Order: sequence, then C-alpha cells, then structure tokens
Amino acid sequence: MIKFKLNGSDVSVDGPEDTPLLWAIRDDLGLTGTKFGCGVGQCGACTVHVGGRATRSCITPISAIAGAEITTIEGLDPAGAHPVQEAWRDLQVPQCGYCQSGQIMQAASLLKDYPSPTDEDIDAVMGGSLCRCMTYIRIRKAIKQAAV
Ligand code: FES
Repeated sequence: MIKFKLNGSDVSVDGPEDTPLLWAIRDDLGLTGTKFGCGVGQCGACTVHVGGRATRSCITPISAIAGAEITTIEGLDPAGAHPVQEAWRDLQVPQCGYCQSGQIMQAASLLKDYPSPTDEDIDAVMGGSLCRCMTYIRIRKAIKQAAV
C-alpha cells in the first residue's frame, strides 16, 4: 500500500509498485481531470504537481510518490480561481480541451520559476505540452496575463 497526499487529503492505493500515478489518480481515486495522452512522458496531458513541481504522472510509478504531496487540476484551486485558470477562461484558451488540464498544471508550475516569463521562457517550459488544436498562441497570452 502506498500512502500520499492528494489535493490536501491523505489517500492510499494498492497495486504493483510500478503502477503509473496517472492510473492511481484516475482509476483508484476517481479524479479524471488528469488525462492520458501518450503514456510515455512526451505529450504533457497527464501533468500533475508532485511537491509543487510539474510531473508527468504517466511515467511516475506510485512507488516514487510515497509520502509526497500530489496536486491535480481538481486541487489547483478549489474554486477554479487560480490566476492561470482565470486567464484561461478570460482568453477562452481551450478548443477541444483534452490537453488543457495538463497545460494549466504545467503553466502554474512555470510561473513559480518565472514570475514574469518571456516568450522564450514559455516556449522552453511549455514546449513539451502538446495541443493538437494548436492553442499555443492563446496559451502564451494566458500565461502572460496570469503573470501580471
Ligand atoms: Fe503522460 Fe503523455 S500521457 S506525457
């Protein structure tokens, strides 16, 4: 049994130690805002925060997060009022929406490292978060709006 904190609550999951955190969150703990895209750490759809840092949950085994604090899109702000979420709504960033929880979690982590990010900072950090609807220009604008 692996115990950790999920969005501020103590939780535990059973299963093989190499179970991806993504499936523990979705299937065992019932939070489906975190999405499966590629399953190999290359698209960003599954991004959550582990100890406050953006992490690909599809390639993070549950054995690696014992005792850690995990935050998903459901816990980023209980009211959905994180500055990144507000900017996303203001600028109507999503198109199909599938990748957007991962994009938001990556962007929230970015702003901790780059409170006033340049285009280059955003491209460097967000470059691994793929969007098939090509919402990248709105994502960049929203990150800059959230930063001010
Ligand atoms: Fe995890 Fe693509 S599903 S990076």
